[in-house]
Amino acid sequence: MADISTEIAEVKLETCVFNASGPKDETLEELEVIARSKSSAIMMKSCTLLPREGNPKPRYADLEFGSINSMGLPNLGYRAYVKFSKILDKKYSKPIIASICGMTVKDNVTMFKAFNDAPVDLIEFNPGSPNTIGQPIIGYDFREMNQLLKAVSKVAKKPFGVKLPPYFDFVHFEQMAKVIKKYPVKFVTCINSVGNGLAVDPITEKTLIKPKGGFGGIGGTYIKFTALANARKFYELFENKIQVIGVGGIFSGLDAFEFILAGASAIQLSTAFMQKGPAIFEIVQRELKEIMRKKGYEKLSDFRGKLKTLD
Ligand code: SIN
Repeated sequence: MADISTEIAEVKLETCVFNASGPKDETLEELEVIARSKSSAIMMKSCTLLPREGNPKPRYADLEFGSINSMGLPNLGYRAYVKFSKILDKKYSKPIIASICGMTVKDNVTMFKAFNDAPVDLIEFNPGSPNTIGQPIIGYDFREMNQLLKAVSKVAKKPFGVKLPPYFDFVHFEQMAKVIKKYPVKFVTCINSVGNGLAVDPITEKTLIKPKGGFGGIGGTYIKFTALANARKFYELFENKIQVIGVGGIFSGLDAFEFILAGASAIQLSTAFMQKGPAIFEIVQRELKEIMRKKGYEKLSDFRGKLKTLD
């Protein structure tokens, strides 16, 4: 049987498939559903210093090949997730990942410090959300990213990575990689939703979601090829010194296979988990193992990053 276990920042994961921060990971009840599923880690909702209700509803809609959302980071505030991590750690044996998305440098530093003393295994820093009203996507401001990473690196004791928005220009990949390489970042997660898409209902002639005049982050199959390109480009730029986690449009073992071939060390399910529920983790894992069996691969390192080009 193919071995699809992996390690992120030396944290062992039974399989390379787990949930993305975002869907159905806000409350303890939701996190326990993830804990009991085949997700190989428990990723918690991106948290802010204080609890947030998020943007006005409707703020999520399924689309034919994906989703649009402008959730606006509804979450219970970081103290709740510190508490949840203690409960989850006692009850389950899976790695726990905190996701931090502070509104200011100071908020981020406070939260990184708080999670130093919590039983989380990894931290995913999320400056890439497109949905905070009045805030730009920080991941597009390289100077601001530098300031943020400098500040959190000084206090972080847990291994941490950065969830990035999608980039579309080789120069931007290089600029972001240069910033990240200055700090002890262990992994990047590519990609957050593709920001500020617009979905309309032609019958009502209205937008599908309410916040921001209907603009929201696009997820699902629509963004798979952008996500794959981002995973590949950062894999190339980091030369195996910083790991890549792929997310964006992964619904099947074949999608997962392609991300690993491009260089990802693990993959996360976001819209797929939202739409298909917790059974999707096992489906993707089973399909990935089956593809590996057919190709004669025993473990992920047999093909990880070994994408061939046509030259
Ligand atoms: C949200 O809550 O708005 C989604 C989180 C994200 O885009 O990072």
